[in-house]
Amino acid sequence: MLIKSAEFVMSNSDVAKCPKGTLPEYAFIGRSNVGKSSLINMLTNRKSLAKTSGRPGKTQLINHFLINKNWHLVDLPGYGYARVSKSSKKTFQKFITQYFSFRQQLVTAFVLVDIRHTPQPIDLEFMQWLGENGIPFSIIFTKADKLKPNAINNHIEAYKNILLETWEEMPNHFITSSSKNTGKEEVLHYIDNLNTN
Ligand code: GTP
Ligand code: MG
Repeated sequence: MLIKSAEFVMSNSDVAKCPKGTLPEYAFIGRSNVGKSSLINMLTNRKSLAKTSGRPGKTQLINHFLINKNWHLVDLPGYGYARVSKSSKKTFQKFITQYFSFRQQLVTAFVLVDIRHTPQPIDLEFMQWLGENGIPFSIIFTKADKLKPNAINNHIEAYKNILLETWEEMPNHFITSSSKNTGKEEVLHYIDNLNTN
């Protein structure tokens, strides 16, 4: 899919205030610092459409971006960042939960996990919660540039083994690197197919 335009629409912490209308949307979620905002920039060929940072906790709101004037990408705050205060953690959790529970326009979520790490309970629990709530999702393994191809395969195999303990099959997944621009066509193609179905 060719990205002809990508525009910031709005940021907010209330799902009721998200853009109205019926445009399909795709949300990126995962631990703080996993590379959600960087991936949005990679997919849209923009350097700083979504704000990124080396320090976790950069994205704090629900951010809508309008792509090709006919669908939305949504950048969300990360979960699992230990240094935010308890009260702001609660607020995050509340609006993320509400976003996924009530956002009718959401076609699918992309759960990002850092390819270098072994499967983490927080990610597995989040996927479980999506499954229990009937919210479709794919997994995006990020930062693939940090591992050699062999290690990538081993890590994905380990993930598969753990997921297959609770899931009937391995969820749809992608391998990406925002710094090396890999995995972009696969993700965009997947979205394109969903948009036209
Ligand atoms: P929060 O908004 O804090 O939840 O983080 P985020 O998930 O949006 O992560 P962000 O895109 O801000 O990236 C976090 C850090 O990881 C930045 O220093 C990025 O440059 C780096 N990063 C993101 N993607 C990649 C990647 O594919 N490869 C490498 N090597 N670094 C990456
Ligand atoms: Mg971010």
